[in-house]
Amino acid sequence: MKGELLPDGSGVFVTEHPKETEELGARLGRRLHSGALLFLWGDLGSGKTLFTQGITVGLQAEDQATSPTFALVHKYEGPIPIYHLDLYRLNSPAEVQALALEEMEAEAAVIIVEWGEYAQNILSPHRLEVFFQRGAGDFERTLILKPQGEEYIDLIKELVNDAGFRD
Ligand SMILES: Nc1ncnc2c1ncn2[C@@H]1O[C@H](COP(=O)(O)OP(=O)(O)O)[C@@H](O)[C@H]1O
Ligand SMILES: [Mg+2]
Repeated sequence: MKGELLPDGSGVFVTEHPKETEELGARLGRRLHSGALLFLWGDLGSGKTLFTQGITVGLQAEDQATSPTFALVHKYEGPIPIYHLDLYRLNSPAEVQALALEEMEAEAAVIIVEWGEYAQNILSPHRLEVFFQRGAGDFERTLILKPQGEEYIDLIKELVNDAGFRD
């Protein structure tokens, strides 16, 4: 995979196989601390869940992430618990209240949100935003990791360096 650092501190990564997206997630997962908050943005099939699976591997969770078809929230136990939210099926901002996101945020956990539009203003503005785009071929994806908060800046630099050295 290729990695590049933008002047605003974002990391741009191009993957050419699902395994590479998962590997990037795993590299990120190994560096995440409890309290980390991630928002994943991108169309269906752009790789958000696969990336999340990689994160669960990197964090050594007991179970791997699946596409949460019915449940809005999945919790994976491990050294640092992971909440994986897929809010695709939320119909209104009011429904988000029932999820008690503030309580989740108060735990020593990592929170990963797919389709997080309605959760945006409830959860902390200190977060790592990840944007997924399809590329030229069927197997190409571009991931942009944008730090919103000091705590994610070094981490992104490390991921860019890793992408450069190893592949
Ligand atoms: N480079 C790539 N990175 C991630 N997924 C890829 C890539 N190339 C092809 N794919 C395929 O795209 C799909 C991504 O699915 P998924 O992670 O569930 O997407 P989302 O959660 O964004 O809807 C999988 O079927 C995967 O095999
Ligand atoms: Mg998904």
